[in-house]
Amino acid sequence: MKQTNQNWRNFLIDGVMFVAFLIATAPRFSGLAIHEWLSLALAAAMITHILLHWQWIVTIGKRLFAKTTWRSRLNYLLNTLLFLAFTITIATGVLMSREALPLMGITMPRDRTLELLHRQASDLTMVILGLHIAIHWSWIVGMFRRLWPSRKPTRQAAAAAARLEEVRQ
Ligand code: HEM
Ligand code: HEM
Repeated sequence: MKQTNQNWRNFLIDGVMFVAFLIATAPRFSGLAIHEWLSLALAAAMITHILLHWQWIVTIGKRLFAKTTWRSRLNYLLNTLLFLAFTITIATGVLMSREALPLMGITMPRDRTLELLHRQASDLTMVILGLHIAIHWSWIVGMFRRLWPSRKPTRQAAAAAARLEEVRQ
């Protein structure tokens, strides 16, 4: 029961983060103010996401050079790269903020290098995030199936029903 609740909690947070990330990748569509505030909220959600998986990070981290599967090692590397790309995107964004930081009295001069770095880090984050989601695809599909359970009988149930029908005749 506890595990089920944790799964739903993660499913909700992951879903909200995914939608927020999609909007964050299109500042021209959302406007710069929404882009900045939403991305800052996303950064807070990401810290929550990492803390919720802290046990996994510590356990696999300890086993990294000892006994573990190559799949886990590769996933650990991917998560580390995702963390770096995401952090660079947020940090460069904050350093060139034109909406959020000026409200707090901090203004930054325009910097072309920062803008370029921000865009490239954001593109890289998107690619690695795609892989991160692909790795967890069966979990995601499983959660959606629980939301909308299939009405079609399973193959075993259909076979059992057919057998019952034969016995009756
Ligand atoms: C929009 C952003 C993200 C989405 C939609 C997302 C989605 C997911 C999903 C679906 C899972 C598996 C289910 C779960 O336990 O929650 C997961 C696990 C995990 N994510 Fe993310 N994630 C995102 C960003 C990140 C970032 C930036 C990191 C930084 C390191 C990260 C680290 C992890 C870790 C450590 C796990 C657990 C270990 C694993 O199975 O890989 N995620 N994430
Ligand atoms: C995951 C988080 C983020 C993503 C994916 C992201 C993505 C992007 C992208 C793709 C652009 C280029 C838009 C274009 O060329 O049309 C951009 C521009 C910009 N972003 Fe972000 N961003 C994020 C976080 C932030 C944060 C936290 C801030 C500030 C608090 C910020 C501030 C800006 C600014 C000021 C621009 C305009 C720069 C320019 O004119 O080239 N971003 N962002």
